[in-house]
Amino acid sequence: MDTEITLVVDGVEHRLTVDTRTTVLDALRERLGITGPKKGCDHGQCGACTLLLGDRRVNSCLMLAVAYDGADLRTADGLADGDLHPVQRAFIEHDAFQCGYCTPGQVVSAVGMVREMREGEPSAVTPDAVDLADEVRERMSGNLCRCGAYANMIPAIVEVVR
Ligand code: FES
Repeated sequence: MDTEITLVVDGVEHRLTVDTRTTVLDALRERLGITGPKKGCDHGQCGACTLLLGDRRVNSCLMLAVAYDGADLRTADGLADGDLHPVQRAFIEHDAFQCGYCTPGQVVSAVGMVREMREGEPSAVTPDAVDLADEVRERMSGNLCRCGAYANMIPAIVEVVR
């Protein structure tokens, strides 16, 4: 069954008709040509499809588009506000990617994570883990990098958190 919905992506309103089984990820990539969010696993396990829904980071491959009619979504392409977002700049300065496939999801997730930490969301790690890098590693564990670029990615994010 087809349904007409509106998705607001990076501040731009898109009206589209989708099959009720269409995910937000597929609606963006296949219907709207918005390819920043990537499809890795399509099962909520890799984080390549991460978007911000308001301030919250979400896996768009797990979201049915019809349930998000009118939703305000942000991709990595919509993070810059005239200048690069500090997370984007830190990724460049730290050379925090290899093939780059997971990078949009990593950057979006890091932006959401930095917000969570600044807003005082309880620690994700055990109380005896005092290292900020451990905290960031745990909070970013939903975003996988098959190249293993974590060695540069984690310091980039830690720099923004500080
Ligand atoms: Fe959505 Fe992997 S594609 S979590």
